[in-house]
Order: sequence, then structure tokens, then C-alpha cells
Amino acid sequence: TKLVGLVGWRGMVGSVLMDRMQAEGDFALIEPLFFSTSNAGGKAPAVAKNETTLKDAFDINELKRCDIIITAQGGDYTTEVFPKLRAAGWNGHWIDAASTLRMKDDAVIILDPVNMPVIKNALSDGGKNWVGGNCTVSCMLMGVGALYKAGLVEWMSTQTYQAASGGGAQHMRELLTQYGTLNAEVKALLDDPKSAILEIDRKIIDKQRSLSAAETANFGVPLGGSLIPWIDKDLGNGQSKEEWKGMAETNKILGLGEGFGSAPIPVDGFCIRIGAMRCHSQALTFKLKKDVPVEDIEAMIAADNPWAKVVPNTREASIQDLTPVAVTGTLTIPVGRIRKLAMGPEYVGAFTIGDQLLWGAAEPLRRMLRILLD
Ligand code: HSE
Repeated sequence: TKLVGLVGWRGMVGSVLMDRMQAEGDFALIEPLFFSTSNAGGKAPAVAKNETTLKDAFDINELKRCDIIITAQGGDYTTEVFPKLRAAGWNGHWIDAASTLRMKDDAVIILDPVNMPVIKNALSDGGKNWVGGNCTVSCMLMGVGALYKAGLVEWMSTQTYQAASGGGAQHMRELLTQYGTLNAEVKALLDDPKSAILEIDRKIIDKQRSLSAAETANFGVPLGGSLIPWIDKDLGNGQSKEEWKGMAETNKILGLGEGFGSAPIPVDGFCIRIGAMRCHSQALTFKLKKDVPVEDIEAMIAADNPWAKVVPNTREASIQDLTPVAVTGTLTIPVGRIRKLAMGPEYVGAFTIGDQLLWGAAEPLRRMLRILLD
């Protein structure tokens, strides 16, 4: 039985990972060893078998015992611990949710329903570093990966509608606190059906513009009732880091681009934070290499993997099945609004959604564990 170290299992992504591992019976196949950055010596969770005491997540000797380590502890932890562990001669498999190692040549971005051949190649070449992709990219490829696999995509533009959870647990709380503050501000007026809507509107904008520093500590500006057209760092070239990841990671996942000796597929667009909880949505524009009928595109997407689901491009189906509320907590990746655009027969639009904590974070990690155990 492989000894599998788990780090960061108590956080938001880690908790989703633990739930999924339990639901899929992963713990029956491993001997788990639970680590903690703050509570070494404490009691491991109930799924522990022989190793019932929490180990110090910074103890290189304890980490070295593991055949496989899965971490959802975050980038700072990876930056500090991973080099020390390798320098100490550890040769096990490192499965990581953080972006730190993602673009390194010796790391594979794992999304096996999309890039199993890339993963298998790396495994046979002795690869040991497996990193989950950016949530937006992973959810997008789970939905429309079929078009890339078929070599049909000349370029793609994506406009995202990203949920608060992408920032972290505190960001989700902050969004809801803001919604509550705004509601409280006009509660009496809302309860009076005869009150003037423009007075409600004025009170709301005044409140949004005067939210306390504590109420915007995480996002920096109001998000409830607004949006934020920038995610992650400013790269200084007009592009956000989140936007840069779209092209860099899509190509790396697919085994295309510089590192693989081929031309990368251009992917670019705008990444926007909106007031959703944990599902990232995106409107996609494809320039295909040829005119492919919509029915063929739908069939390819539907057949690609068990989770991608084509939503008929009707008003009713779209508002029922193609929303963050419909998708949250599920592994389903709906792809809808599929239609030819006015620019010409090679131009295709689509809209897709994924739970950012499932396919966007936890699920590829536990699936990589299963691949290693096979
Ligand atoms: N960078 C993403 C976001 C989350 O902020 O939504 C992690 O992939």
C-alpha cells in the first residue's frame, strides 16, 4: 500500500478534495499520512488508518517517508518545501493544486480526460511532478477540449465570469457580507412596494462607494452589485496574469507550443470577477480551421468525456441548465449557446460553466492519484 501524504486538506480546496476522495473510495487504496502546518501531534481525521497522528508539514524527514504527496496548502508552502524535499533526495510523486510549479518543464498540468497521452508520456519518461491547472482553463477544456483534440481550433477568445471562490474562502464571505450590507441599507424601502426605485438605487450606490475597508479587505473594491475587470497580477503589458494563463496553460495541457516543438494556439480575452459563489463561467469565441456544422460540434463535445454536457441553445434550457446555480457542487460541465456567429461560418460561439473547486481544483488531483495507483 502506498503511503500518501496529504497537506492542506483542511482548507477549502482540501476539504472538497477530502470529500471527493471519500466519495470515490480512494482511501481504501492508500495508507494516508496527514500533515498540518499548525497542529502537528494532533489527531488525524477519521479516515486515517495506522498513521493517526498529524505530522508537521515542514518536517522533511516525515514528508520523505511518503510515496506520493498531495498538497492543496498553497503556493507559499510549495515554494518553501518542495525544493528542500527534492534536495533531500526524495523521489516520490508530488501532486499539487498551487500554480508555483505549473509552467516548469519537468511538471505536467494534469487534466486526464483532456491530456491523458501527455500524462502517460511524462510518466514513462520518469515524471514526478503533477500540477493542477488554473481553474478557468481546466473547466474550459473539460467542456470544449474535443475541438482542440480534433485540431479544429485556429484561435479562441474567452470572456470569463469568475466566481468569488477563485480568490479564496475569505472572498466568498466578503461577497456575501457586501450583499447583506446592501440589502440592509434599503430593506425598509424594498418592503414598501410604493417606494421609488431611483431612491433605492441612489442609496445602494452611496453605500457601495462608502463600504468600509473591512468590507472590501479581500477584493479591494466592492464586488456585490458590481464586477471587477481584472484578476491576479498586472503583467505590465496590459494583460492580467489570469488572462496570460489562458494561452500558456491551454497549450501546455494539450502538449502544444514551444516546450513541445509546435506552434501554440492563440487563446486570449478578458477575465472578469463577478458576484457568483464557486462556478466560473465563460463565453467563448472560436475561429475554426474550417466550417463544421453545429450538430457535428455538439456531437463531438457530448462524446468527448462523461462530464461535458451539451445544453440545447434555447432560452429555456440556457436559463435552467447553464448557470452557476445549476452547476455548483456537480462535476457536470455544461456547454451551451453553441452557434455560428455573424462573422462567418468558421466562427463559433459557446458558453460553458464549471465548479471551480471540483474540475477547477480538487478533481484532477485525486484522479492523478488514481492514475499513479493503477
Ligand atoms: N485564479 C483563479 C481565480 C483561481 O482567481 O478565479 C485559481 O485558479
